[in-house]
Amino acid sequence: MIEKQIPKFFDIVYDPKIASLITLDEVRDAFHTNQTSSKNRAIHAFESIYTESNRVLYIGSWFGILTNYLLENFANISVDEVDMDMRCSIISKRFNIDYNFNHYTADINVFDRIDNYDTVINLSSEHMSNNWYNKINPGTRVVMQSNNFDIIEDHTNCCTSLEDMQNKFNLTETTFADTLKLNIYERYTLAGIK
Ligand SMILES: C[S@@+](CC[C@H](N)C(=O)[O-])C[C@H]1O[C@@H](n2cnc3c(N)ncnc32)[C@H](O)[C@@H]1O
Repeated sequence: MIEKQIPKFFDIVYDPKIASLITLDEVRDAFHTNQTSSKNRAIHAFESIYTESNRVLYIGSWFGILTNYLLENFANISVDEVDMDMRCSIISKRFNIDYNFNHYTADINVFDRIDNYDTVINLSSEHMSNNWYNKINPGTRVVMQSNNFDIIEDHTNCCTSLEDMQNKFNLTETTFADTLKLNIYERYTLAGIK
């Protein structure tokens, strides 16, 4: 699963430019078991909506680690990433150098192509308002994660339970719904059709 991406990511940290862009704390957080377990749930959720031709928008794509997994393992999908942190473009393009994909540096609240995709992944929904979800077309396939880890300053839109998340993000069809109990918080994963 996603663990295979970890040594590949460290390979690119030999590039001094990449090393200068990320802190040890960030890499520690990105590869914490909470994160890898959560990404593996997201992969199972993606499998539940995979069509062999998904045109994916990945919101809050961070270092592009899940992008690498998706492009390596799912044939015929396309992935466009959007992240407002401008470092993510450089890091993900370097990490995913072997693949054709697009990365946009933008706040999703002002990204004007959000309704151009048949599939949207957002594993960072706790970091932003629900505007993005309200803007995507009905019928769009989605993979979403949230959590109840509300003591983190950047987590401005947490959920208290899976049911709370299901009420915030109404799906017409649910293909995956899961609560993952982590060390000090819970991660909720939902997939299906808006
Ligand atoms: C800490 S990371 C990832 C957390 C998530 N739990 C995960 O594992 O994928 C959150 C990412 O979302 C991005 N982000 C937060 N708010 C955003 C927004 N409004 N538009 C675009 N990207 C955003 C941040 O820049 C960061 O790269």
